[in-house]
Amino acid sequence: MASKHKVAFIDDRLDVLEKSDFYRCLRTVVVRGPLAIVDGKEAIHLCSNDYLGLSQNEQVIKKTVEALDQVSQCSSRLIAGNHPKNMELESLLADHRRTESALVYPTGYSANLGAITAVADMNSTIFSDELNHASIIDACKLSGATVKIFRHNDGDHLHELMQQVEGRKIVITEGIFSMVGDTAILPEICAIAKDHDAMTIVDDAHGDFIRGSEYSGVPASLGADVDLHISSMSKALGCFGGYVAGTESMRELLINTSRQFIYTTALPGHLCSAAIAAIPLAKNGGLQERLHSNIIYFTNALKRIGFALGNSSSQIIPVMIGPEKKAIDFSKELLKAGAFAQAIRHPTVKKGSARLRVSLTAMHGKKLLDAAIRAFEEAGRKTDVI
Ligand SMILES: Cc1ncc(COP(=O)(O)O)c(C=O)c1O
Repeated sequence: MASKHKVAFIDDRLDVLEKSDFYRCLRTVVVRGPLAIVDGKEAIHLCSNDYLGLSQNEQVIKKTVEALDQVSQCSSRLIAGNHPKNMELESLLADHRRTESALVYPTGYSANLGAITAVADMNSTIFSDELNHASIIDACKLSGATVKIFRHNDGDHLHELMQQVEGRKIVITEGIFSMVGDTAILPEICAIAKDHDAMTIVDDAHGDFIRGSEYSGVPASLGADVDLHISSMSKALGCFGGYVAGTESMRELLINTSRQFIYTTALPGHLCSAAIAAIPLAKNGGLQERLHSNIIYFTNALKRIGFALGNSSSQIIPVMIGPEKKAIDFSKELLKAGAFAQAIRHPTVKKGSARLRVSLTAMHGKKLLDAAIRAFEEAGRKTDVI
């Protein structure tokens, strides 16, 4: 009889996850405007990163479909995958971030891995904010650099750590933090980095096309001059893929050495066309204004009811719960009451600091927000969150 010993670890690990309330399971989600059909039940969608609603924009969809003459280039960029649309998109993204150049990756995750491992090595030290996204954490590990974690948005701690280290230094932060929704203290970080001759990298996945003049992101909005911009096109742009923006020589370095760029199939041309169509719509501005008024309206209402929302200053609104089980129960009750927001648990956030990560979009009208607020109140009372 075949030994079951070699796969026994699978059930053991799943068991541990289930008993400690860290077990995750997939739900089917079909998006319909600001609503979602979640496992067959319609609810107000409160956890999409499609902050401006552009993933469902008719013009963007039309342009994407028109460009669809091949599903994929079926080749990496350096072999035969470099479609002209890849280059056109990169030129638009560089203009958008006000940098010399940009380079597209298949995802934001791989852009972080690809850029960070290309600029950091075992002879460098990375200083990383404690709340940085998993893709930054993974990239730091993979780079072989020494990694020092500074307390969230704590310039004094960053300075203290940087003083203790010799050699090449790199500081990495998010622009808007993905699980708390606050904004990086970029001017302070850049000033400290300058004192230590350190390179600065910002993952602006959640601030891109949301903040700054012409919505060119958090660094521009704060007047901070960072060396390397990393972002995702699957958030405010409503499309797909990631990109890195910086100097022309940085782009050349990435093309020549970044393994996540070299050894993977190019972002398909029609997805580049989608982003090319979405960029002018995102830069137009009206959508961000609607989003902003939704944020104020929803945040004020939830605070009035008694929810703890942390220090969010953006469309990402963490509804802090604490115990994992309570967050799961709250999320279930919320769905029953007609609103959909997932419980976020360890390892995405610290143990015991589970939360619902609400993200608003420009598509939510006041009527829907009122219904969502009522659902939060009902679910909150049922589960003793408020
Ligand atoms: C801060 C941050 N960086 C990078 C990523 C990865 O982007 P993508 O979904 O395009 O891989 C995410 C996505 O969740 C993110 O929140």
